[in-house]
Amino acid sequence: MYLVTVLGNLFIILAVSSDSHLHTPMYFFLSNLSLVDICVTSTTVPKMLMNIQTQSKAITYGGCITQLHFFLLFGGLDDFLLAVMAYDRYVAICHPLHYMVIMNPRLCGLLVLVSWIMGALNSLVQCLIVLPLSFCTNLEIPHFFCELKEVVQLACSDTFLNNIVMYFLSALLGGGPLAGIIYSYSKIVSSIRAIPSAQGKYKAFSTCASHLSVVFLFYGTVLGVYLSSAATQSSHSSAAASVMYTVVTPMLNPFIYSLRNRDIKRALKRFFGMAGTKGTIIRG
Ligand SMILES: *[C@@H]1O[C@H](CO)[C@@H](O)[C@H](O)[C@H]1NC(C)=O
Repeated sequence: MYLVTVLGNLFIILAVSSDSHLHTPMYFFLSNLSLVDICVTSTTVPKMLMNIQTQSKAITYGGCITQLHFFLLFGGLDDFLLAVMAYDRYVAICHPLHYMVIMNPRLCGLLVLVSWIMGALNSLVQCLIVLPLSFCTNLEIPHFFCELKEVVQLACSDTFLNNIVMYFLSALLGGGPLAGIIYSYSKIVSSIRAIPSAQGKYKAFSTCASHLSVVFLFYGTVLGVYLSSAATQSSHSSAAASVMYTVVTPMLNPFIYSLRNRDIKRALKRFFGMAGTKGTIIRG
C-alpha cells in the first residue's frame, strides 16, 4: 500500500508537470495535495514497516516528537489544501469569466503558502506544549505511530493545558477548512441549479466530483474514527480505524482523480507514450 501511495501520487505530480494543458490552478493544487499525501504517509508507514520487520516496536523520544511534528504539519496541510481546492472550484463555477483573473499565479502561490504556514504553526504549537511534559517509565503507546492524544495521555505531569490547546486547535483546524468547503459547495450547488440545460449542469458538476469524493473520503474517515473512538473508548480499535485516514485515504486520492478524469488519463498516457518513444529512438 505504501508503494502504491507513493507511485500513484508521484504519477499525478509527473502528469501535471509534464502536460502544459494541466498547468491550471486546479491541477497545481492537486499536485500539491499529492506531494502532501506522499509526505503524510511517509511520516508513519516506513517506521511501522520497520517495526514489523525488526519485531521491535521501540521509538526514541526524539523520534516520537519528530513524527508527531511532521504528522501534524502534513495532516493540517492536507486539510487546508482541500479547502483551497474547494475555493478554486467555487471561483471556477460561480465566477467562470473571471476565473483566470482571480486565480492568478500570485493568489495560488499565496494560498499554498498560507496552508503551509497554518500547518506549520499548528504543529509547532502542539509540539512546544508536549515538550515540557514529563513521562514516567514503562511507556507504551497504544497506536502504530506517535499520535498526539495518545502521547499526551501517557504523561505523568498535568496535561490540562495540552488538552485545552489540543481540542481548541483541532476544532479550529478541522472546523475552519470544513466550514469553507461547505460554504463553497453551497454556493456551487445554487449556481449549478441555476444552469438551465441538464448537459450544462452535468458538465459543471463533473469538474468538482473528484474533489468532492476526496473531501468525503477525508472528512468521512476522520469523523468516523473520531466518533468510533469516542463511542468505544478503546485505543486499539481507534488505532486500527485511523489506518483509514493515515494510509488508505492518501492511497485512494490519485485513483479518484485519475480514474474519473479524462485530462489526467490523457496526460499519463502521453507521459508514458513519450517515455516509450524516447526508448525506441535510443534503441534505434
Ligand atoms: C503547488 O502550487 C503552486 C502554486 O500554484 C505551484 O506553483 C507549484 O508548482 C505546486 N507544487 C507542486 C509540487 O505541484
